Amino acid sequence: MSEDQSTAGSDGGLDVLLRTEQTFPPPPEFAAQANASDPGIYERADADPEAWWGSWAEKLEWIEPFDEILDWSDPPFAKWFTGGKLNVSANCLDRHVAAGDGDRVAYYWEGEDGTRKEITYAWLLEQTQKAANGLKSLGIGKGDVVGVYMPMVPEAAVAMLACTRIGAIHNVVFGGFSAGSVVERMEVSGAKALITADATLRRGKPTPMKEAIDPAIADLETLEHVIVVDRAGSNPPMTEGRDHRWEELVGGAGGDCPPEPMDSEDPLFILYTSGSTAKPKGIQHTTAGYLTGVTATHKLVFDLKDDDVYWCAADIGWITGHSYIVYGPLANGATSVMYEGAPNYPAEDRWWEIAERYGATIFYTAPTAIRACMKWGVEHVEKHDLSKLRLLGSVGEPINPRAWLWYHENVGGGRCPIVDTWWQTETGAIMITPLPGLTTTKPGSATVPFPGIEAKILDESGAEIAEGGGHLALTRPWPSMARTLYQEPERFVETYWKRFGPDTYQVGDAARIDEDGYFWIVGRTDDVINVSGHRLSTMEVESALVSHPKVAEAAVIGVPDEDTGQAIFAFVTPSGGTVGDDELEAELRDHVAEKIGKLARPKQMAFADDLPKTRSGKIMRRLLRDIAAGEELGDVSTLRDPEVVESLQKQLAV
Ligand code: PRX
Repeated sequence: MSEDQSTAGSDGGLDVLLRTEQTFPPPPEFAAQANASDPGIYERADADPEAWWGSWAEKLEWIEPFDEILDWSDPPFAKWFTGGKLNVSANCLDRHVAAGDGDRVAYYWEGEDGTRKEITYAWLLEQTQKAANGLKSLGIGKGDVVGVYMPMVPEAAVAMLACTRIGAIHNVVFGGFSAGSVVERMEVSGAKALITADATLRRGKPTPMKEAIDPAIADLETLEHVIVVDRAGSNPPMTEGRDHRWEELVGGAGGDCPPEPMDSEDPLFILYTSGSTAKPKGIQHTTAGYLTGVTATHKLVFDLKDDDVYWCAADIGWITGHSYIVYGPLANGATSVMYEGAPNYPAEDRWWEIAERYGATIFYTAPTAIRACMKWGVEHVEKHDLSKLRLLGSVGEPINPRAWLWYHENVGGGRCPIVDTWWQTETGAIMITPLPGLTTTKPGSATVPFPGIEAKILDESGAEIAEGGGHLALTRPWPSMARTLYQEPERFVETYWKRFGPDTYQVGDAARIDEDGYFWIVGRTDDVINVSGHRLSTMEVESALVSHPKVAEAAVIGVPDEDTGQAIFAFVTPSGGTVGDDELEAELRDHVAEKIGKLARPKQMAFADDLPKTRSGKIMRRLLRDIAAGEELGDVSTLRDPEVVESLQKQLAV
């Protein structure tokens, strides 16, 4: 196992106060009505995974049927449902409207400022076609990359769907990322257009988006068009010829845009995520397999019924938002809640107020948010009637049992099953999860692979470990698997498919399997830090730090954090003559926010004239982690300069 595994994950530091042996079988009344209620589902899917996935693909609407379910003749490059043609927006919108469900609410949207909109399937379809025509009028078509940098407004979903309508590949960048991150992602993907908003509302204040990225995008060679949604009426400067107002472009476009027939394997979108290097990876998902994966998992894991009000409180800018706010729910014709702002604005009960107002029945969020709610106090939850809730979900990081039990008791009233769903940007859809009507849950465990998915724990040599800890691997292809890294197929193979061979997907997580075959995710084995369920690479933060003129060298590690799961700790060597003080620390935190985004700001920083290195000059991160944790260090005599360690320890002891 790589040296980075030892401190990965949040579980170690968090649950000193509570571990539990308690297990939670599905409540009988839930099990009786569940979409998946026959335990034979696992065996059947296992006996013939292709037939299983094929049965889900057949539930989609095809323009031309597929002739082969899986072509795995050239691993790791899988092809699913070859020969078929379909369109994602038609599956998400047209077929529901055609079935008479045009008036059905797709999203109860609530702005942070209290604005409320009921977005119907008919409205979404109309807007999607107009936006698609608007894009077409700018010369954007099949295969073009369109950036989306938006707040959580309905237009963000429309923008994504409009791309799928015409076969353009969307590349969404989380609205909390900085201008620098947007530019990098637009540049490496060769984006032709970027859809953004004038501003986003956060804690009552409009924070500029368009104006913030303007200087940085000016030099992008491929970027021909910028389309700006008016969210806050802030009238940002517009560049003649390049910039377009969404309201004019879309408002003035025709309302009829037939869906482009797409091959099953045509790219649907790319989404950049952090890996072991400073350069983000463009995870590429394709049309039919992705849609099949998110539809099946959304239906079974969330036990979706016609009268459910489903709420995934993630952001559209992450894979969770793509799969479980937009594509899974819309393909299943769900009614969802979409909320724009902060969970504690204007008060700590904002989420619960919304849940009560719309009668949310299913709620899906991240452990970090649950821990924040715990901290704010149960009284905020208790103010509201959450009796309609029947199922809760968790995603993004290991959930510590204490948070699990709090969520279960206080949000779920002790009656709602919790689905702790493990998956990744790369997997596209949920991979390890309870099925709420079938699986007995154990707080802290994501439980077992979804039907048709095969997961194993492998040792260093790639041999399976029947019980115990090691590398998590997925050992069979699945429809929503990433097909490649955008324009970097070699890096795709190298990163995920080399270590254990071309048909075993190396997840990059360490996990343990227990005597019941339940999986317990420990954390990352690579240089990825998981802050509040958001992926950041140590290298990305390090390169942001060293791009500051007052920094000579930097090393970044993840440390356990009670609130955010992991937090960023940066060790910095200031450049000659610069003093490492509070002022520099503040300056560097701002600098990282500007380069990557606020979420990447180091929580702690330590300055030293040098960093602990081996004689060959390699920074010893393990030692840095021990120093950060205040642990005994043992033998440091192999270091090039053992005194460095002492100076760091002294600093941290203050
Ligand atoms: O380490 C795992 C952690 O999040 C990583 C994937 O991050 P990302 O691609 O940003 O997707 C997050 C949302 C799907 C994984 O490698 N992770 C995700 N879900 C869980 C988790 N760790 C433990 N338990 C989970 N349920």
